[in-house]
Amino acid sequence: MKEMSIDSKIVMGYIYSSLFWGVIGLLIGLLISIQMWDPAFNFGEFFTFGRLRTVHTNVLAYGLGIGAEMGVFYYIITKLTKRTLLFPKLAMINLVIFNIGILAGTITLFMGYTQSLEYAEFEWPIDIGVVIIWVLFAINVIGTVATRKEKHMYVSLWYILVTVVAVAILYIVNNLPIIVSLTKSYHIFSGLNSANVQWWYGHNAVGFLFTTPILAMFYYFLPKSTNMPIYSHRLSIISFWSLVFMYLWTGAHHLVYSPIPDWLQTLGIVFTIVLIAPSWGSVINGYMTVQPDWSKMNSQYLTKFFILGITFYGLQTLQGPSQGLRAISSLIHFTDWVPGHVHMGTMGWVVLVTTASMYYIVTKIYNTTIYSEKLANTHFWLVLIGQVVFSITMWITGIRQGAMWKSYNDDGTLMYTFMETLVGNYPYWQMRTVAGAVFIVGMLFFLFTLIMTVVKGKREQSSK
Ligand code: HEM
Ligand code: HEM
Repeated sequence: MKEMSIDSKIVMGYIYSSLFWGVIGLLIGLLISIQMWDPAFNFGEFFTFGRLRTVHTNVLAYGLGIGAEMGVFYYIITKLTKRTLLFPKLAMINLVIFNIGILAGTITLFMGYTQSLEYAEFEWPIDIGVVIIWVLFAINVIGTVATRKEKHMYVSLWYILVTVVAVAILYIVNNLPIIVSLTKSYHIFSGLNSANVQWWYGHNAVGFLFTTPILAMFYYFLPKSTNMPIYSHRLSIISFWSLVFMYLWTGAHHLVYSPIPDWLQTLGIVFTIVLIAPSWGSVINGYMTVQPDWSKMNSQYLTKFFILGITFYGLQTLQGPSQGLRAISSLIHFTDWVPGHVHMGTMGWVVLVTTASMYYIVTKIYNTTIYSEKLANTHFWLVLIGQVVFSITMWITGIRQGAMWKSYNDDGTLMYTFMETLVGNYPYWQMRTVAGAVFIVGMLFFLFTLIMTVVKGKREQSSK
């Protein structure tokens, strides 16, 4: 049997790790969705909603998200640079540090240690670990690209490089601490500056953890799996530079109607609206790539993952800018509409593109075909149904909540008590739990199909 290359072992190591963290994060997502309509599901202090919600977001963003991105990036980089990784052993060591870091971060969140900054909850000792992991990753990525054998820089490499650089800057700046003890620190910025820096970070975390890396995958795997060249390289590069430039100015749209200066909110909102153009540059590029032969949506099982994925990205990047507008923000902010938006992006765009990329990689690394297209299709439909039901129920109840909060009696008093608006959520939250369960079953189909494809590939190689 042919020995697997070290690069492939690294890629698979990261993929397996991300899947492990993904299962944990999703199950916790399901549990917190139940806790929201039945408090009896809060078990002791470690398993209360307040702690588990941060475990859910961090484990999925950093464990599943970053783990998958590192593995998939290493695969793409070796292909596009036509060389092996510059420091393969370093990547292996980093894999171990990565898993220890996520484990330590998760345990501390369970214990209630948090910086109280959304998506930057890890306390400072864990932050140091995160920075080490990212620097080691950056050395390998930048070093391999700098010493590449292929002169041409395909757009996926640009998206990978910007992810590496932007995440480093964002994470370090927003995590600058005033240290009180080993387990407690405070943001170095205070008051409005703290809010402003936090949401500059928060929105760009979405941009550089859930957008640019996924676009890197999309631009590489869509043409590969369909066997059709990308429609326009020029459009892909124009979209890239304008997206990166505009993202960095939009954070203030999370602070509409807050005490930050009005001009700053308006600046954020203007860039937010303009961001539609570069986002849709990629959506159009994707559609036009498949345009010459739409039958690929039927005949090539991966095409629909990528096309539905970019469709959700397209919807997300229309819905997101609309949420920045003052009139709409005043209706949906603080309501369940926002988790509806969030999960269309994460469960739709991110998960569809990432899992399809993993299918592609595994069949190439093990030189085989997918174990069962039927199972992959079942995975697709369950994930799609789960995601759509999740988002739609949250949008409905979000508007309901917002409208009830805004209703006044003639004498100026509120028409509804807070409890009335809250209890009205229950049926929708229960429906979300059902949707989450359907999504998780879909992901179990994915895990099974992926692992069976590896087994099939190994079996075929050993019989050669
Ligand atoms: C089975 C699937 C999932 C379920 C049941 C689920 C459930 C939940 C729940 C109940 C919340 C709390 C909402 C609130 O506080 O009102 C939440 C928040 C969140 N989840 Fe999930 N989730 C799932 C999948 C995912 C995935 C795949 C990701 C990312 C890759 C993700 C990322 C997030 C984020 C970023 C938030 C914070 C949203 C906000 O503050 O508006 N979730 N999720
Ligand atoms: C053009 C692109 C986008 C724009 C302009 C945008 C805009 C917004 C706005 C204005 C909010 C704040 C809503 C509120 O709380 O009132 C928001 C929340 C959020 N968006 Fe987007 N969005 C975009 C794309 C995406 C994508 C692609 C994802 C994920 C894949 C995403 C994930 C999130 C998350 C996680 C939050 C919740 C933040 C929190 O915890 O409060 N967004 N978005």
